[in-house]
Amino acid sequence: MTDKKPIITVSNLSRRFSNGTVALDKVNLEIYRNEFLIISGPNGSGKSVLMKHLNGLMKPQSGEIRLHDKNIHNNIYRTRQEIGLVFQDADSQIIGQTVERDASFGPENLRLKRDEISIRVNKSLSQVGLQEKKDHRPHTLSGGEKRRLAIAGILAMDSGVLIFDEPFSNLDYEGVQNVLREIVTLHKKGHTIVLITHDLGKVLAHGERLIIMNHGEIVDNGKPLELLHKLESCGIRRPDPDKLENMTWLK
Ligand SMILES: Nc1ncnc2c1ncn2[C@@H]1O[C@H](COP(=O)(O)OP(=O)(O)OP(=O)(O)O)[C@@H](O)[C@H]1O
Ligand SMILES: [Mg+2]
Repeated sequence: MTDKKPIITVSNLSRRFSNGTVALDKVNLEIYRNEFLIISGPNGSGKSVLMKHLNGLMKPQSGEIRLHDKNIHNNIYRTRQEIGLVFQDADSQIIGQTVERDASFGPENLRLKRDEISIRVNKSLSQVGLQEKKDHRPHTLSGGEKRRLAIAGILAMDSGVLIFDEPFSNLDYEGVQNVLREIVTLHKKGHTIVLITHDLGKVLAHGERLIIMNHGEIVDNGKPLELLHKLESCGIRRPDPDKLENMTWLK
């Protein structure tokens, strides 16, 4: 369900790296409360760089990002609490010595009371099915479990906006189903979902809006099924219509 009130507004955001690469070129984007937004585009089109700007990990060189109509850098603490990221590379997100410690890191940074942290972490680990592995070392988890641990970490922060960067990479079919089921459930619970992927077949049936990026620009923005015919010209594989139907089993 989408109400037409933007929660995040990106205006004229540009990013050029010192080697000359223009990763983002005057990007304008609104993200609405409770929507399920898919962002797609070929390799190197600027998706991950955009995501890193959205919660303040990268600072705009030019342009601005507003959360609830305030510049996200005015209160970076609040921004990081409200906008949770699950990175493309699950390993890069691991910081704790155990699964439980790792999932606690976010709420500890919010300086919550110890009891509250424990309640949140236990709940989020159960939600992603990792409660039994809470004492395991994160690096011993499988790829899919690491991704679920990253999801548990942002659930424990209780972030309203959840951004997933290529959440299905390196997952087997069951791993894809589990992660997708979790994302769809979070959306139903009222979280705003931004899902970055070039593997559209898995998610198109769930997305309410699709944004296509190419060469650091937003080249299209609309209802997913209406943009299908434009995908190939932007270098994105067009999903097989049969597979699209198959993925509606989660709805
Ligand atoms: N730290 C950096 N220094 C220099 N160039 C960078 C840096 N990070 C990203 N880039 C470049 O910026 C462009 C956009 O990168 P980005 O990671 O956002 O692509 P992407 O759309 O996420 O691609 P993929 O589908 O492969 O994940 C690419 O050309 C990339 O090489
Ligand atoms: Mg990327």
